[in-house]
Amino acid sequence: MIWNELPKPFTILAPMEGVTDVVFRGVVAKAGRPDLFYTEFTNVSSFASERGRHDALERLEVKPEDKPIIAQIWGKNPEHFAMLARELEGLGFAGLDLNFGCPDRHVNKAGGGAAMIRTPELASECIKHARENTNLPVSVKTRLGFTYIEEYKTWIPFLLNHHLAALTVHLRTRKEMSKVAAHYELIPELIKMRNEISPETKLIINGDIKDKKMVKELSEKYPEIDGFMIGRGVFANPFCFTDHEPTKEELLNLFYYHLDLYDERAAKIHYPYEPLKHFFKVYINSFDGASDLRVKLMDCKTTAELRQVLDDFKKA
Ligand SMILES: Cc1cc2nc3c(=O)[nH]c(=O)nc-3n(C[C@H](O)[C@H](O)[C@H](O)COP(=O)(O)O)c2cc1C
Repeated sequence: MIWNELPKPFTILAPMEGVTDVVFRGVVAKAGRPDLFYTEFTNVSSFASERGRHDALERLEVKPEDKPIIAQIWGKNPEHFAMLARELEGLGFAGLDLNFGCPDRHVNKAGGGAAMIRTPELASECIKHARENTNLPVSVKTRLGFTYIEEYKTWIPFLLNHHLAALTVHLRTRKEMSKVAAHYELIPELIKMRNEISPETKLIINGDIKDKKMVKELSEKYPEIDGFMIGRGVFANPFCFTDHEPTKEELLNLFYYHLDLYDERAAKIHYPYEPLKHFFKVYINSFDGASDLRVKLMDCKTTAELRQVLDDFKKA
């Protein structure tokens, strides 16, 4: 059982739609891997059609360097949770995580993500259906509440009463999106709830954690927290799971590596170019000439052109 094999505290790269796919996970693994990866979330109903199944399986590709990795899923149909749970066993995942925290309007309108906080009985059915159909450990990632912080007082104990393998709490409400500081002041209360209701559940904290240094500080303050999940911190520093401060050259080399992994994937499946632009700032940041270089990169239309611009910059 993966959750018992991890160090304490362990680190996780947060699931991020459009970001933490097999390519970017490869980049982070090269820079310095976390103890555990998560996939981007996959809709449980996608397996209901052949086309959807094909696309979802592409999304769920796992490479050896990604392991151990948890597959994250979302939806609202318990039967579909059951179906996907069956399908995912044997694909190389160490566990299954149910997304009960996504604040996206479309996801919530479809009854998934953070909308589950409002429909606890349905959330319970989804957990049960997933569990009954897989031997993989089942975990949940959620927020404190939908609208009000106080919702955590009933929602978190409700989830803990399912004796999940792990529970990740993004320390904000759905309403707060990511606009306010994460509510670290509630960590002692969450620890108390976990210890009283389900001591076997690994408790993972998420929100505004920047890097390994911050993980160390938080774990010294809250030694009972099992794991720390970093999301956007990886944009500021792709080496955030290490103690290493990357040089400009190391960041550029990591960018070349990202392009190699991109090309490898684009040769296999339809893999759009435009989203690659979101990553430029990860590598080309805070050094002299960075913003001019980014402007040039934005004008490129292929990875060959990107490499040319980078080569010219290095030579200049
Ligand atoms: C671009 C982006 C995509 C995200 N996609 C997902 C997702 O697929 N599943 C999920 O549980 N959370 C998702 N999140 C939320 C993150 O996992 C994390 O909870 C949030 O960013 C707070 O952590 P941070 O402050 O370390 O970034 C996403 C966040 C971002 C910025």
